[in-house]
Amino acid sequence: MAFSSTMILPLLLVLLSAFSATSKSVQENFMQCLDANSEHPIPISAFCSQTNSSFTSVLNSTAQNLRYLMPLVPKPEFIFIPVYESHAKSAVICAKRLAIHLRFRSGGHDYEGLSYASEIETPFILIDLNQLRSINVDVDDNSAWVQAGATVGEVYYRISEKSKTHGFPAGLCSSLGIGGHITGGAYGSMMRKYGLGADNVLDARIVDVNGEILDRAAMGEDLFWAIRGGGGASFGVILAWKIKLVAVPETVTVFTVPKTLEQGATKILYRWQQVADKLDDDLFIRVVIQVTKTSLKGKRTVTTAYNALYLGDAERLLQVMDQSFPELGLARKDCIETSWIKSVLYIAGFPSETPPEVLLEGKSLFKNYFKAKSDFVQQPIPETALEKLWEMLLEEESPLMIWNPYGGMMANISDSAIPFPHRKGNLFKIQYVTSWYEGSKDATRKHMDWIKGLYDYMSAYVPTSPRGAYVNYRDLDLGMNHNNASYTEASVWGAMYFKGNFRRLVKIKSKVDPGNFFRHEQSIPVVLDRA
Ligand SMILES: Cc1cc2nc3c(=O)[nH]c(=O)nc-3n(C[C@H](O)[C@H](O)[C@H](O)COP(=O)(O)OP(=O)(O)OC[C@H]3O[C@@H](n4cnc5c(N)ncnc54)[C@H](O)[C@@H]3O)c2cc1C
Ligand SMILES: *[C@@H]1O[C@H](CO)[C@@H](O)[C@H](O)[C@H]1NC(C)=O
Ligand SMILES: *[C@@H]1O[C@H](CO)[C@@H](O)[C@H](O)[C@H]1NC(C)=O
Ligand SMILES: *[C@@H]1O[C@H](CO)[C@@H](O)[C@H](O)[C@H]1NC(C)=O
Ligand SMILES: *[C@@H]1O[C@H](CO)[C@@H](O)[C@H](O)[C@H]1NC(C)=O
Repeated sequence: MAFSSTMILPLLLVLLSAFSATSKSVQENFMQCLDANSEHPIPISAFCSQTNSSFTSVLNSTAQNLRYLMPLVPKPEFIFIPVYESHAKSAVICAKRLAIHLRFRSGGHDYEGLSYASEIETPFILIDLNQLRSINVDVDDNSAWVQAGATVGEVYYRISEKSKTHGFPAGLCSSLGIGGHITGGAYGSMMRKYGLGADNVLDARIVDVNGEILDRAAMGEDLFWAIRGGGGASFGVILAWKIKLVAVPETVTVFTVPKTLEQGATKILYRWQQVADKLDDDLFIRVVIQVTKTSLKGKRTVTTAYNALYLGDAERLLQVMDQSFPELGLARKDCIETSWIKSVLYIAGFPSETPPEVLLEGKSLFKNYFKAKSDFVQQPIPETALEKLWEMLLEEESPLMIWNPYGGMMANISDSAIPFPHRKGNLFKIQYVTSWYEGSKDATRKHMDWIKGLYDYMSAYVPTSPRGAYVNYRDLDLGMNHNNASYTEASVWGAMYFKGNFRRLVKIKSKVDPGNFFRHEQSIPVVLDRA
C-alpha cells in the first residue's frame, strides 16, 4: 500500500517547482505593475519575499498573537512595505488588476491575526504600513494628522512634546497601531470623559477600491461614518487620521489597589458594578482580574486590581472616592500624582521611572498565544455568580479578565453617531483572555475550550438578543464569511458588534466596494439577499 519514497519525490518536486514558479510570478507581476503605476519610485527594500532571510522577522515584527504565526497558518506570498502613501494606492490598483488578495497591517494587534494571516484567502500579499508613521501635531488647532503606521504611544508622546495640557482618548496599550485601532472604536482611560478615539476623529485620508486617495470631503459623510468604528479592512486603506486633541490637566492621579478573595474581593467588586458607570466623569477605574499565587504553598487565589486614572489631583480624588466608593478604602499613599504622559506609561504597565521616550520605540511589552472574547454588562452580576466565576478562573493557567467602566460621555453619545453602538445602558465591558506560551495543538485546544466554557457560563448575566461584542476584540467563533457571505449569515456576528448599525454598514459597503475587494473573515458583506 505504501508508496516508495522514490515515487513520491519526483511528484513532490514537480509540485514544489510549480508552487515556487507561481509564487515568484505573483511577485514579479506585482512589481512590474507597481513600477508602471507609481508616482514615486519603489525601492527594492520595499519588498520582502519568502526567500529573503528577513522574511520571518519582518512578518513576526508586529504580529501580536503567536497563534497566527504557527507553522501551519498560511503565510503571505511576500510583504510589501509602502514608503510613500502613493505606494499603497498603487498596491490597490495592481492587486485589483491582477486579482490578488491583500491584507493590511498597521500595528499588528488584531486578535485573530486578520492583518497578517488568512484562513480563507490564499494566496495573499501583506501590505505593511509600518513605514508610514509621521505625526503632525497642531496645538493651536487642537488637532493632529497621524499616519496609519504610527503607534498610539508615539501619538501620545508627540502630543505631550508640544503641550502638557493636551491629550488623545485612545487605547491603553502603547503599541497599538493608530491605523487599525480607530477603525474599531478605540477606548482608553479617558473614555468616560471624552468617548472613544473614533468619536474624536475630524478627517481621514483613505485609498478607496478604485485606487483614489480621498479625504472626508471627497469620500462623503456615509463612508466617513463607516470607517470610524465599522472595523478594519472593509472599506478602504486608512492612510492617516486627523484627530481632535482633548484637554488634560497638568496633574493627574493614578492608582492600583489589589484585593484578593481573602480580602473581600467579591463584595467590593459587587459594589464597583453599582458605582463604576456613575462616578465623576474625570474618574476611570477598571478592574484587572487574574489568578495569583498566595503565600501558602501551591494555593492560588483571584486578585482583582482596581487600576485608575483621575483627571485631577489626589486631594480631590480622595473626596470623590470617599463620597462614591469608600468600600475600596483608597488612601493617600495609594495615589500617584503625575503628568498625563507618565500616566500613559503607568497604565500601559511600564516599570516606574521608564522615560516617556520608550514610547517612540513602538514595541509591545509582551507576546504570547492568546484567545479573547468580550461582553457588555447591563445588570450587576450577583455575588453567587461571581463565586462560581472564580472557580472557573482557578481551573485555568493564565486567565485574565478586564472589566472596563462605561457611563459618563459614553452614555451621552447616540448609538448611531458612529458604527460603535454600545453606549447608554451599559455598566461595563468585560474582556476575557487566556494566554499561553507553548504553541502545540493540544495546548491550543485546551485553552480555546476553556474560554468557550467561560463564555457559555457568562451568557446568563448579559443581554443575549443580540449579545454584545467589541469589534476591536475580533472573535472568529462568532461567525465567519465564506467567500461572499450573505447579509443573513453575517448578521449573526454583525449584530453583536454593531447592533442596528450593521444594516447601514452593509449598505455603504455595497455602494463603495460592490465587488468586495476589501474582504476578510469578518469584513462587512455586500448585500446579496433581502433578509
Ligand atoms: C495587547 C493589546 C491591547 C489592546 N488594548 C486595547 C485598548 O486599550 N483599547 C482598545 O480599544 N483596543 C485595544 N486592543 C485592540 C485593538 O484596538 C485592535 O486589535 C486594533 O485593531 C489594533 O489595531 P492595529 O493597527 O494594531 O492592528 P492590525 O492588526 O494592524 O489591524 C487590525 C485590523 O484592521 C485592519 N487594518 C490595519 N491597518 C489598516 C489600515 N491602515 N486601513 C484599513 N484597515 C486596516 C487589519 O487588516 C485588521 O483587520 C488591544 C489589543 C491588544 C493585542
Ligand atoms: C529583504 O527584506 C528587507 C526588509 O524588507 C529588505 O530591506 C531587503 O532589501 C530585502 N533583501 C533582498 C535581497 O531583497
Ligand atoms: C517567528 O515566530 C514564530 C512563532 O512564535 C517562531 O517560531 C519563529 O522562530 C519566529 N521567527 C523569528 C525570526 O522571529
Ligand atoms: C453627559 O450628560 C450629562 C447630562 O446631560 C451631563 O451632566 C454630563 O456632564 C455629560 N458628561 C460628559 C462627559 O459630557
Ligand atoms: C462577490 O460578489 C460580488 C457581487 O455579486 C461579485 O462582484 C464578486 O466578484 C464576488 N466576489 C467573490 C470573491 O466571489
